[in-house]
Amino acid sequence: MAGDDVSIHGSWASRWVFILAATGSAVGLGSIWKFPYMTGVYGGGAFVVMFLLFIALLGVPVMVAETLIGRRARLSPANALKALAVHTGHGGKWSWAAFAGMVTALLILSFYSVVGGWSLDYILGVGAGNFQGIDGEKAGGYFAAMVDDPWRMILWHSAFMLLSAGVIARGVVAGLERSLRIMMPLLFVLLLILLGYSLTTGHFMDGVRFMFHLDPSRLMDGLLPAMGHAFFSLSVGIGSILIYGAYMPKQTSITGTVMAVALLDTFVSLLAGLALFPIVFAAGLNAGEGPGLMFVTLPLAFGNVAFGQLIGVVFFVLVAVAAWSSAISLLEPMVAYLVERTRFSRLWVTSALAFGCWFVGLGTVFSFNIWKEAKFFVTDGGAFQLYQWGAAGGLDLFGVIDFFTSRIMLPLGALTFVVFASWVMGRDAVRDELAMRNATLFAVTFFLMRYVAPLGILIVFAAQLFK
Ligand code: TRP
Repeated sequence: MAGDDVSIHGSWASRWVFILAATGSAVGLGSIWKFPYMTGVYGGGAFVVMFLLFIALLGVPVMVAETLIGRRARLSPANALKALAVHTGHGGKWSWAAFAGMVTALLILSFYSVVGGWSLDYILGVGAGNFQGIDGEKAGGYFAAMVDDPWRMILWHSAFMLLSAGVIARGVVAGLERSLRIMMPLLFVLLLILLGYSLTTGHFMDGVRFMFHLDPSRLMDGLLPAMGHAFFSLSVGIGSILIYGAYMPKQTSITGTVMAVALLDTFVSLLAGLALFPIVFAAGLNAGEGPGLMFVTLPLAFGNVAFGQLIGVVFFVLVAVAAWSSAISLLEPMVAYLVERTRFSRLWVTSALAFGCWFVGLGTVFSFNIWKEAKFFVTDGGAFQLYQWGAAGGLDLFGVIDFFTSRIMLPLGALTFVVFASWVMGRDAVRDELAMRNATLFAVTFFLMRYVAPLGILIVFAAQLFK
């Protein structure tokens, strides 16, 4: 166990593979799809500033904690916490918390796969020339027609789930490296091209102002969403990073590597926002549109630039790949756990879990069409109702799953990991595993893990409850 350099799951060939895999996990729909639409819904600058603050003060320390727990134990999340906590006599309780995280991951995957499916659908849509010369209204109509059709969404949701399960069934290390090495840099280049386009819309500064102008009156609205999304974006809180840490070679510096991944992920989010919002304003679209924002906005860019059809196809392929490399990190923790704990094969475990996620994902599919009117947690006119068909406010089923996972379970999972590392494993173990040369930097890192991150998470929860 601890100190050993071999894991029953195998190990990455080098530090570089860990960076690729962790970046592949972090950079995904969270950065390209969710960050811009949440920024729109929660009022721009106020959300962005809180998000950046939470990434730096809470997200990075949690990510360091997860990585070091994984590398020390070299086991799946639940077994890692159990193994490392054995001497405190609380192994069982800690491993339940990690188990809840692994279940949360599967819930996230259920809707993640549906949206991943949208990008597959759009590859064909752009490729067929549907977006040529399109205007804002038609782009909105295209998206609406897609989400209105449950069969079409189920088809792509199934395809996306199969793709993700396919990699996991073969083992993460095998499939991932070759594709990500080319795709991730290319995604970056295409985002820069899009940014170039939004510079020509004449509304670039409107986009910048929207994203960075801080309206203090909206700070509170976006507080918990920004924290939840900081964790979502970095892939922390459920053990994705922990399990990748378990495959990380011993000599690699954890803090440096984690910083690199966090910076890349944040950079892609900001880039996506800066590329999208100028197009939104130029076309007179609604920034607070919600989950459809990227899928309504980008066709406008691709429909109106030279070679847009080609660039658009490549772009949505890359989005699908980014989503796919994130989706596998949602499935891997539970798969690794069941491979450790049961006699079932990797293939069998993967198939069963993927089917379960696919099934739950139907709830998200139907939230956009036949169950559109099913609303939960309705507070219409003050009277609270758990469920009401056709209510004006409230959350649809997708909204409920998103709320429960991103705003409640991820922060709780993050709290679990960071408290576990800094309080249960303790300073000496953390110092040993991080092996930082600079004592001051270590002191700062440990302080963030031990006090700032846990208190920060609790304060945001409290602020939300009593606002
Ligand atoms: N971070 C990914 C994204 O931004 C999604 C993701 C992968 C994730 N693994 C996770 C989110 C674990 C939360 C927890 O698209």
